Amino acid sequence: MQRLSAEQPVARAPLDATARVVYGRHMATKIQVVFYSMYGHVHRMAEAIAAGAREVADTEVGLSQVPELVPDAALEKTGAKAAREAFAHVPVAKPAQLAEADAILFGTPTRFGNMAAQMRNFLDQTGGLWAKGGLVGKVGSVFLSTATQHGGQETTATSFYNTLLHHGMIIVGVPYSCQALNTMDEIIGGGPYGAGTLAGGDGKRQPSAIELGIARFQGRHVAEIAAKLHR
Ligand SMILES: Cc1cc2nc3c(=O)[nH]c(=O)nc-3n(C[C@H](O)[C@H](O)[C@H](O)COP(=O)(O)O)c2cc1C
Repeated sequence: MQRLSAEQPVARAPLDATARVVYGRHMATKIQVVFYSMYGHVHRMAEAIAAGAREVADTEVGLSQVPELVPDAALEKTGAKAAREAFAHVPVAKPAQLAEADAILFGTPTRFGNMAAQMRNFLDQTGGLWAKGGLVGKVGSVFLSTATQHGGQETTATSFYNTLLHHGMIIVGVPYSCQALNTMDEIIGGGPYGAGTLAGGDGKRQPSAIELGIARFQGRHVAEIAAKLHR
């Protein structure tokens, strides 16, 4: 059997800017969108992120959610159990799957200005990956939901970045070439740190068209960068 050594050249004959051909095989850029959502806002943003990533040629986009930690009875009391049924079909993420990705976009609601415990718990199971350098050089990006306009989207994103940096990931946000970031005629979530939505104190506000547009932009932007880096 012929063994492939590190010295063997990788065929570089991309069909377009994002295509990859390795040893004659066409390799798609692998994008994972991994989220936690209690009431569905982050899930809707995750779908827009995934749709944006799919706009880039030769991408394989996977959507998964981290495991719930809150007991069913507590979820029932707050209406979260019913809300979560809308995205119960989304597969549950396993830490090891992150090693397969070229880029990972993490979505979380804010909890006291930080990521949700469910996401923290998931990330705290990536010690084995960290030890192997399993995520080094992959693109990492964050998107968010808060109840209120100044409830901590930026602190949630930037504190999330600490973990991504420990993993050696390359952080990508949303550049101001996304014109929607300059919106002044309505209240919106999101910024250069990542797309975001404002759920409202009662959770009734749904992601607006502008917020979903920024999420779509972020998904596409991350996929384009990942494709260039991993060509
Ligand atoms: C324990 C707890 C802490 C929260 N902390 C904040 C906060 O610091 N700032 C804020 O604006 N919203 C806060 N929220 C509201 C959530 O961020 C909001 O429910 C979430 O963004 C909705 O997203 P989801 O529908 O995807 O769960 C908090 C909610 C809970 C349950």
